[in-house]
Amino acid sequence: MIINFLTKIGRGFFVGNKQKFGFVKREKIEIPALDKIDLYIHIPFCKNMCPYCPYNRIAYTKELIKPYLKATLNEIDLYYQKLGKIEISSIYVGGGTPTNLIDELNIILNSLRENFFISGDICVETSPADLNEDVIKKLKNTGVDLISIGVQSFDDKYLKILGRKYDAKKAEEAVKLALSADFKSVNIDLMFVLPNQNGKNILADLDKAIELKVNQITTYPLFTFPYTSVGQHLKLNKIRMPNVFKRRKMYREIYNHCIRNGYQQVSVWGFKKGEIPRYSSVTRDTYIGIGAGACSRLPDMFYFNTFSVKDYINSALSQKLPVALTMEITPQLEKYYWLYWRFYDAAIKKEGLKKIFGRRDFKIKLLFSILKIMGLCKETKDEIILTERGSFYIHLLQNYFILTYINKVWTIAKKEAWPEKIEI
Ligand SMILES: C[S@@+](CC[C@H](N)C(=O)[O-])C[C@H]1O[C@@H](n2cnc3c(N)ncnc32)[C@H](O)[C@@H]1O
Repeated sequence: MIINFLTKIGRGFFVGNKQKFGFVKREKIEIPALDKIDLYIHIPFCKNMCPYCPYNRIAYTKELIKPYLKATLNEIDLYYQKLGKIEISSIYVGGGTPTNLIDELNIILNSLRENFFISGDICVETSPADLNEDVIKKLKNTGVDLISIGVQSFDDKYLKILGRKYDAKKAEEAVKLALSADFKSVNIDLMFVLPNQNGKNILADLDKAIELKVNQITTYPLFTFPYTSVGQHLKLNKIRMPNVFKRRKMYREIYNHCIRNGYQQVSVWGFKKGEIPRYSSVTRDTYIGIGAGACSRLPDMFYFNTFSVKDYINSALSQKLPVALTMEITPQLEKYYWLYWRFYDAAIKKEGLKKIFGRRDFKIKLLFSILKIMGLCKETKDEIILTERGSFYIHLLQNYFILTYINKVWTIAKKEAWPEKIEI
């Protein structure tokens, strides 16, 4: 109730009343002319269905792989017909577990290389259960620059709780293998505030990552979405966030431990070591999403593909963009969308802020004065940087607003392939 009320007030104050908060169907998607774009490719197939995973994924089904590949190639071609041979400034392949379709990924990337100019890095998510010498070799040969391994924990007890089908030894071997392959960066995901996990346990996980010399560590508190198997088992009717005091304590320990060990903060959750490119899945400004459930964000529009893998395939194979619902974005919301992700980055370039909001935006001045007084951010010559406290509390607030929306949209999109509309 309070959150709904605050959301309404906040939306009105910052974004104004022109913005409609909801997704609707559109007959035709008008793609504007673009010089360059980032690309997200979604591979929804998983060999192990983790009970807490909220993402759009289905069990690996051999018969669907070929049609899915063909559908993604068609979807890419549909965009090529609209955009021409433009630049692709980065490619992120997420899932699901993309490495389950490693040979198909090679075909997709080659098709992209034929039709577009790829100027940026290619990043692929994978899981320890999936990594072996053959897969690593194929990832290298197909030109992948960065990889992210969903380790989650180096402790058998927590891997079991999370329903992961590998043990700590296998996780360690997978990380070592990846690190020896000379990628530009190897990120590992670790989860925290797991059931009965304490500060010592997460520090032990971090120590293992540090000992292995992983390039980047990304840590996530465990969220429970009502529609996941854990959420259904617990009969949740709204998203469950981990206990805020435990999360606060653990976050502080994670932050301090990473900084102490020479890692620098690159996002709320992420810490990297050395002069390597930052691995990030979510912070691009404009991007096109390929695959079932993939989202796209164009200058004045946000939309997502049908979550149903079968409907996605049928739509793309009949030469139709598989877009389920769209939301128009007013220039004012666009500015705050930009700011949202800069908060996620935990650093905001002053030049960027001026360019987007102008020099005299009183709401922005007010916002940052309040954050500074509260000790949530500090200024350097060129940047506004979130403090450790700011990283935690600002993101906690972002979580409460955004995850509620995401839960609402994903719950419906997972149930209905082509929903009429979704209000948020
Ligand atoms: C798209 S998932 C990739 C999963 C990959 N297929 C694997 O098996 O490791 C990206 C990351 O999101 C995080 N994640 C997944 N479910 C989560 C949840 N319920 N709460 C918080 N983080 C979660 C995990 O750390 C995971 O590695």
